[in-house]
Amino acid sequence: MCGIFAYLNYLVEKDRRYIINTLLTGLSRLEYRGYDSLAVNGDKENEFLIFREVGKVAALRAKIESQSTLDMNKKFLSHTSMAHTRWATHGQPCEKNSHPHRSDPNNEFIVVHNGIITNYKELRTILEKNGYLFESDTDTECIAKLAKYIWDNHAKGSKPTFTTLVKAVCKELEGAFAIIVKSTHFPDEVIATRRGSPLLIGVKTQKKLKVDFVDVEFGGAEAPAAVAQPKGNSLLAPINPSHPPMQRSQSRAFLSDDGMPQPIEYFLASDPSAIVEHTKRVLYLEDGDIAHIDEGELHIHRLRRDDNMSTMRQIQTLEMELAEIMKGSFDHFMQKEIYEQPESVVNTMRGRVNFDTRTVTLGGLSTYLATIRRCRRIVFVACGTSYHSCIATRAIFEELTEIPISVELASDFLDRKTPIFRDDVCVFVSQSGETADTILALRYCLERGALCVGITNTVGSSISRETHCGVHINAGPEIGVASTKAYTSQFIALVMMALQLSEDRISKTERRNAIIDDLCRLPQVIKETLALDNELKQLSRESLVKQASLLIMGRGYQNATCLEGALKIKELSYMHSEGILAGELKHGPLALIDENMPVILIMTKDSLYPKVQSALQQVTARKGHPIIICNTNDSNIPDKYRTIRVPQLVDCLQGLITVIPLQLLSYHIAVARGVNVDFPRNLAKSVTVE
Ligand code: G6P
Repeated sequence: MCGIFAYLNYLVEKDRRYIINTLLTGLSRLEYRGYDSLAVNGDKENEFLIFREVGKVAALRAKIESQSTLDMNKKFLSHTSMAHTRWATHGQPCEKNSHPHRSDPNNEFIVVHNGIITNYKELRTILEKNGYLFESDTDTECIAKLAKYIWDNHAKGSKPTFTTLVKAVCKELEGAFAIIVKSTHFPDEVIATRRGSPLLIGVKTQKKLKVDFVDVEFGGAEAPAAVAQPKGNSLLAPINPSHPPMQRSQSRAFLSDDGMPQPIEYFLASDPSAIVEHTKRVLYLEDGDIAHIDEGELHIHRLRRDDNMSTMRQIQTLEMELAEIMKGSFDHFMQKEIYEQPESVVNTMRGRVNFDTRTVTLGGLSTYLATIRRCRRIVFVACGTSYHSCIATRAIFEELTEIPISVELASDFLDRKTPIFRDDVCVFVSQSGETADTILALRYCLERGALCVGITNTVGSSISRETHCGVHINAGPEIGVASTKAYTSQFIALVMMALQLSEDRISKTERRNAIIDDLCRLPQVIKETLALDNELKQLSRESLVKQASLLIMGRGYQNATCLEGALKIKELSYMHSEGILAGELKHGPLALIDENMPVILIMTKDSLYPKVQSALQQVTARKGHPIIICNTNDSNIPDKYRTIRVPQLVDCLQGLITVIPLQLLSYHIAVARGVNVDFPRNLAKSVTVE
């Protein structure tokens, strides 16, 4: 999805070079979210400089550097600037569709936006009728034009404040958004607000903050009510200049001892990875928060008090390290993340699995365990790779807990308006914690009174905040669009949850112990599997890179591996690939098999081994030459087959290992095909729109 970044310095002198560099670095951290990018930078009073470039941030940097007339040493004591990287939803990636969008050639209002405004067509029609000329194909532009329309319809002397104006704009917007607005009418001020799309604010001061929170200010209740309907238009909320000014409590956090504002820098971004190198102190905005930064102070407003929501926003400390979001010696983030798995799986289990006592303790679930054990069913809801981690663990969950489980793709779950009841437990699995479909499904289940559990990798994300309880998978930041280490960590988090829920079942003790013992072996076994990398690279070049299609077959616990492997192949190498449940082979897919169709068959040693052997025979009988992923200790496989041999683990954990060769194969095929591994075309890491 689009990425937003903004930088404000107040009483902290910075030159233009520093400001532009900060924006460009912020954008490069968010680059995985978008394709085209730009930076905005105020210069003289009431003048914004706007730079646009399609493609990578490096191209934007080169463009700015080539502007010889730009005085990069010019100093700014206080300054506001913003930048954006765009994942096109409305309009092609091109300069005219790049953000910020402006209200008019004088840039009275400029906006960067992440999300989708679903009623933009209606707004655009009305605004065009009123003489506002649009310059782009985007939904975003209507936000800037709308701000100007509301502004223009107020007589001099009764103009709204910046916050009141943005509130009036937001009231008209439908859909999901995080926006940052700047205006020549409010120089040096910035408004940031969100509904459905992530946005957080990093704070950097020299002195320690006085308090670790910001009070939320309420007021302007029914927003700006009116003297007159603006130009007779019923769509737009009228504004009342006689409305009492909003209560402006001091944000104590940002004052120095003598009660004066202190020098401060703010970093606003869609993702903490763009902030962490500057400061670890961050504040996550809630849906509906309107943050106003003016003269170094941050004020958070809401239209009205919401009893379910805290009246404070905590300033939290990010635990992420800068090194975690750098590629280091690896060629790609995806490669780095595949190689991080021996450590990331340990981080998922750290402090939770006691290998000596063979117990599991998930602190985030402790007060809800009894409720979960009593529920009538568990519904897993997720998208993409996260959905596959649910498929991978469904069987062991059912076996250990004896609770019926259903696994749902979030979009389909919503399309079907699936019946959900108070005694259901719904588990939302999401790496980013920001996937729009999963969040909508979560809200749907919250409304119906189900207990909602979040399994996410992102502390402070919407899913981790809006669920009743949950587990953070602690895999560390995942930047590569194709999910790898998050998959294995989600898998483990779900297995740990099943283990804890079944701790009181004596009949399951032996099984639980076998699983916990193999969890302990995981890091070593993953390392052994990663050692196949060269062999896999060779295999991909010799046999797979030129193919048009690849079928991946298996059954039981390996079904999820097939689906996940095929997803990796198609999203990275743009090669058609399908995960096929071997039990379904004779119901259709067998028709695809001949001597030319590449097949990978997963045949590891579990109770279904004989059935997969029969699938192998069916494939070879049709002249297929499958590559077999099997266990190192399997001596039954005739030499004529090419094999990928992986260490054996207990059946329900084997999928953690069989997926690794497929991650590596997809990586090597993509590299050999010259495809951008970390940013596959048309895809985004975090899909924050429906
Ligand atoms: C996108 C990503 C996938 C990811 C899916 C779900 O499609 O490209 O890698 O699996 O979203 O994302 P989530 O953050 O909810 O796990």
